[in-house]
Amino acid sequence: MESQQPDIPETVYYTLKRTTWMQEMVTLINSQGDPTLSRSVPNWARAPWLEQYYCPEVLSSMQEPRTLTTHMPYSALAPALKDSKAKVIYIGRNPRDVAVSSYHFCHFAKFMPTPASFQEYLNHFLQGKVHFGSWFDHVKSWTDAKEDIQNFFFITYEEMKQDLRGSIKRVSSFLQRPLVDSEITASEQQCSFATMKNNPMVNYTLVPEEIMSHNSGKFMRKGASGDWRNTFTVNQSLVFDAVYEAQMQYSPLRTLWPNATDLQVATKCPVTAASASSSTCHVVGHQDLMGCS
Ligand code: A3P
Repeated sequence: MESQQPDIPETVYYTLKRTTWMQEMVTLINSQGDPTLSRSVPNWARAPWLEQYYCPEVLSSMQEPRTLTTHMPYSALAPALKDSKAKVIYIGRNPRDVAVSSYHFCHFAKFMPTPASFQEYLNHFLQGKVHFGSWFDHVKSWTDAKEDIQNFFFITYEEMKQDLRGSIKRVSSFLQRPLVDSEITASEQQCSFATMKNNPMVNYTLVPEEIMSHNSGKFMRKGASGDWRNTFTVNQSLVFDAVYEAQMQYSPLRTLWPNATDLQVATKCPVTAASASSSTCHVVGHQDLMGCS
């Protein structure tokens, strides 16, 4: 029997995790900073989610370079990516901020179970009993496989926050679509939190009320790094640190989002530094991790 492999675009493909922001950035890079598409076409039609039923139809009608979004672990896509020239972008974010952001998303998205409390959600998050499973397993599955993926680029939410312009340049260079200064400026403006928050094509206000409860929150919530500090108790932070240390001890990402009380500054992204990519990934210090979904 023939195996059913997803239709992986040959030119651009990227994955989790914080994705809406990257969908916007890739759209703008491919449009050379022209915001027309960003302002007129919903992000799910520009970079469809692989896990959504409508994905094959959208993909088949797209022109190259096609962009795909997914929350899937590497194992689900490994066969399709083998020998593929697809460009994979992985966005990491401080998992503490991921937990808080996802907790709020569960209240907003009616298709998600609503947690009784943040404590309950955090327990599930740390046990990997959340949508798409363990954050730790997910990030490790992709970054551990970087040698098996021909074109792999890792970036963090915190880097994007700290240096949006630099991040746009690096992503455009990875996509081999260099931009001139004015195109970078236009992309930067359109990718800013303020602009995206008010853009119905990316802020999910177009989604009907029966799917997303617009009275219970906003998708473009705070857009901050380190906001977890306003939610976690000291005890939750200590428990998180212990699980993080245990889960990440053998991962080159371990030092990216260190212990909450450790203000050590990491200066090189262990993933990109070790990869074939020539770009250096400047990682913000923990004090700047106002928070990584
Ligand atoms: P918060 O809930 O912390 O505000 P995803 O798209 O993967 O579901 O991620 C959603 C998170 O990314 C939300 O985080 C959202 O605010 C944040 N985000 C999206 N676009 C952003 C931008 N331009 N700047 C900063 N954060 C952004």
